[in-house]
Amino acid sequence: MIHCFILYEEIYGLEQSSATVQLEGGKTYIDKDVLPQPGDAILDLGCGTGELSTYLAELVGPHGYVIGVDPDSNRLNLAKETHRHVKNLFFVEGNSDDFEGIGSEKYDLIFSNCVFHWIPDKDRAFRNMFNSLKVGGKIAIHYMDAQLPFITTSFEVLNPETAERFNKMFDFEIRDNIDRMCRSAGFNVVSSYYAYDKTVVYPSVESLLQWLVGTSHGVFDLQLVTQERIQQLLEKLGNPPFDFTASSRVSKLFAVKPEYRTQ
Ligand SMILES: C[S@@+](CC[C@H](N)C(=O)[O-])C[C@H]1O[C@@H](n2cnc3c(N)ncnc32)[C@H](O)[C@@H]1O
Repeated sequence: MIHCFILYEEIYGLEQSSATVQLEGGKTYIDKDVLPQPGDAILDLGCGTGELSTYLAELVGPHGYVIGVDPDSNRLNLAKETHRHVKNLFFVEGNSDDFEGIGSEKYDLIFSNCVFHWIPDKDRAFRNMFNSLKVGGKIAIHYMDAQLPFITTSFEVLNPETAERFNKMFDFEIRDNIDRMCRSAGFNVVSSYYAYDKTVVYPSVESLLQWLVGTSHGVFDLQLVTQERIQQLLEKLGNPPFDFTASSRVSKLFAVKPEYRTQ
């Protein structure tokens, strides 16, 4: 299975090769857009199982460090177990309202990958990040401002009974509003744009189903998926391999904490 790297850690039970492909996507984003520097102190907000935190820790080197925070203790325990050999990487349970180093002005970079659409109080999250960065520190946020169409269709067809519950788990906000919240927290927005540059491909129905279970934290119920529903889905999405890359819009935001607040 290959999917948008930002969601890969949610697919428990992935075959190893897939995880590798997805991790490569995440690394490309970090290398091309985020550009962490050796010695940086980084917060990975919503780190999941920590694969990208580990890559960031490699890039900042022994004089820098990464703190990964996530509210999901299962994911965090897995992160601690899997990456315990990385000396400059620390995983601490927390969330956008309460995280290690909040208000400390100690971070050079706050990285948050595919998390913002889960956060209910985004104004507060921006303020917390602002107060936790050094002057000149930056945020690199990668999020969705609307549900991806293939996910909506999959739920509607395969799991109409759970679709509403699933939708309520998210807190989407349009990009203009996100930018406004970012500015009103005091940041200078360096860039904010849409991209369709993530590989979102599933080779089989099984791999799509497996991912839907993971991304919904188990709300997607495999018991409700009948052959008839799968047939209906294939009529809408076509036959596998499914390639949803062209319709999978993500948003990227880079902003910096200025020396003096301008707003
Ligand atoms: C799609 S995963 C992304 C994981 C990781 N950033 C990556 O790209 O591999 C979203 C993560 O956000 C976490 N999350 C949800 N709400 C959060 C919040 N309010 N603050 C921080 N993390 C949150 C979830 O527990 C989950 O691990």
